[in-house]
Amino acid sequence: MKVIVTENKIQCGAKAFEIFKNEIKNGAKVLGLATGSTPETLYQNFINSDLNCSNLISINLDEYVGLTPDNPQSYHYFMRKHLFDKKPFKKSYVPDGMTKDVAATCKEYDQIIKDNPIDVQLLGIGRNGHIAFNEPGTPFDIGTHEVKLTENTIKANSRFFDNEDEVPKSAICMGTANIMDAKKVVLMAFGEKKAQAIKEMIEGPVTEQVPASILQKHPDVTVIVDKAAAQELD
Ligand code: F6R
Repeated sequence: MKVIVTENKIQCGAKAFEIFKNEIKNGAKVLGLATGSTPETLYQNFINSDLNCSNLISINLDEYVGLTPDNPQSYHYFMRKHLFDKKPFKKSYVPDGMTKDVAATCKEYDQIIKDNPIDVQLLGIGRNGHIAFNEPGTPFDIGTHEVKLTENTIKANSRFFDNEDEVPKSAICMGTANIMDAKKVVLMAFGEKKAQAIKEMIEGPVTEQVPASILQKHPDVTVIVDKAAAQELD
């Protein structure tokens, strides 16, 4: 893994954008995208640039089950607000959280990824080492699947909802196997709260207990962190 340490999240966003821009210049057509607070500085760079995305395809990591695309907590909404409304792509895939048949939707999503192999996959990381909604203990070899959210995640997410009952109980999420199939992976992390996960991902054993540790086996991973997230590294 290549590790780039910058001063702060603004610089992380600029560095990540440089990589994406270069990959696009060199022919990348399919971007794997993420939500959460981490990618915001990168998306801001996309928006502020003159980069034309109208020939690109994007495939997002995950979506909550049961949230309509116009629900402000949905990842459809997040992506429109933070990127697509200002930088439209040719086609943007986000899992259908309103599907009546989750298993079929997961299968279709795997097919979408197969038909549109991801050139560059963007990732954030959870404090417990999760990538997408792949929590510790998730098998490394699975594709798109439904994830039952843990009590902790539901509690943590309840701050965004009027009450805990409104928090979705599950999500549709790319599996670690889909992520490992991407040609290139760019993982961003900021802040000391991510420092332990970054250390375990890079220096710890490859274990399903730290989902991001599988990236040690990927041939092309760039990790972009600020000093605080890098502080535990040897
Ligand atoms: C986002 C996602 C999550 C986040 C991770 C970090 O689509 O799948 O794995 O990347 O939880 O979240 P933030 O960026 O909010 O710290």
